[in-house]
Amino acid sequence: MKGWMSRFKVIFTLALMTIVLAGCGEPFLSALQPQGESAKNIYDLMILSIIIMTVVFLVVMIIYVYVVFRYRRKKQQEDHIPKQVEGNHALETLWTVIPILLLLILAIPTVQSTFSLVDTSAEVNEEGEDLDQIWVNVTGKQYWWHFEYPDFDITTSQDLYIPTDRKVNISLLSEDVIHSFWVPPLAGKMDVNPTGNRNEMWIDAHEEGIYWGKCAELCGPSHSLMDFKVIAVSPGEFEQWVLDMQQVDPDAVPESATAQEGQELFGDNCLACHAIGSSPNKTGPNLTNFADREKLAGVFDFTEENLHKWIQTKGRDMKPGNLMVQAPYDLTDEEADKIIEYLLTLSPSEITSANAEDGNYIESDLSAIFPDEDEQDEEEQDEDEAAEEDNEDEE
Ligand code: CUA
Repeated sequence: MKGWMSRFKVIFTLALMTIVLAGCGEPFLSALQPQGESAKNIYDLMILSIIIMTVVFLVVMIIYVYVVFRYRRKKQQEDHIPKQVEGNHALETLWTVIPILLLLILAIPTVQSTFSLVDTSAEVNEEGEDLDQIWVNVTGKQYWWHFEYPDFDITTSQDLYIPTDRKVNISLLSEDVIHSFWVPPLAGKMDVNPTGNRNEMWIDAHEEGIYWGKCAELCGPSHSLMDFKVIAVSPGEFEQWVLDMQQVDPDAVPESATAQEGQELFGDNCLACHAIGSSPNKTGPNLTNFADREKLAGVFDFTEENLHKWIQTKGRDMKPGNLMVQAPYDLTDEEADKIIEYLLTLSPSEITSANAEDGNYIESDLSAIFPDEDEQDEEEQDEDEAAEEDNEDEE
């Protein structure tokens, strides 16, 4: 009786934990609360497979329990052997065909999704025209993420801005070891390979918000700290962000004298590895909109204290194994604070992560950041008008 009770307690505790912990997933980090089309697709597949498995489990258990009781050995019948069904064609066909059907039901949508989740072709609008595509080249590095928007000539790191309700194509490459790009509420994982082996996928977000991204492939001592954020803002705000980022002048002189000194110190000590403004991929993260970062180094609270500690210890203990420990600079605390004052001026856009959470939705068709076709149309119109004038002159 006692053993039975303690077993019951264990089972009860586990059941209770399952119920309680099931509520732990946060919407910004949970694949079980999909916030994008791609993640929803994967979630639906999970539900489908759970339904199939549950049905199989229940059917097997019901038959099992029935057989155990119905055919158990009874008193006075110790020698009785029930009718044997070995080699029964009907039964064998049944239990071969049913699993095949179940696997097919699971396989068809799975294979379809396998292709659609990496289909980076253009979205089509209501008139059947291809929409302009947003591409982001993502480079994974120990232990941070580099983001390039090739069509907008924008470079940034750690915070990936995207517009809501729009497919954003992601092209992945690593500069060192294999990483894995994963934004659980928006899409599945995708390996980030070195040696020029690019992987492509797409993400989208139905709602504005700050979604947490993780590296999902063990890549070194700070693998678990290789976080980034996807900042989904409304299309109008995204457009504004792109235009603001395009206006950045890397040499702009800050107002305060201390920040100016900081800028000089930054130029002497940091620019070899970091960059401001659109730049090729460098050794360290691009700092164009550093002051707007959601987190410091992906995981730490963005405070001056943490920033000071990071600069002065080169993140040695904060992110073990990071490349900055090799940087040759040697700054006094006062100099580090001047650099911090400069870094905190690096906020080129009014659009920041706060806009992802203010509930303010600005509509846009993004035409301001994809002006090519409009410009071409205007040019053609100008040419037509000029030709007409010529004709009139001739007449
Ligand atoms: Cu990069 Cu784990």
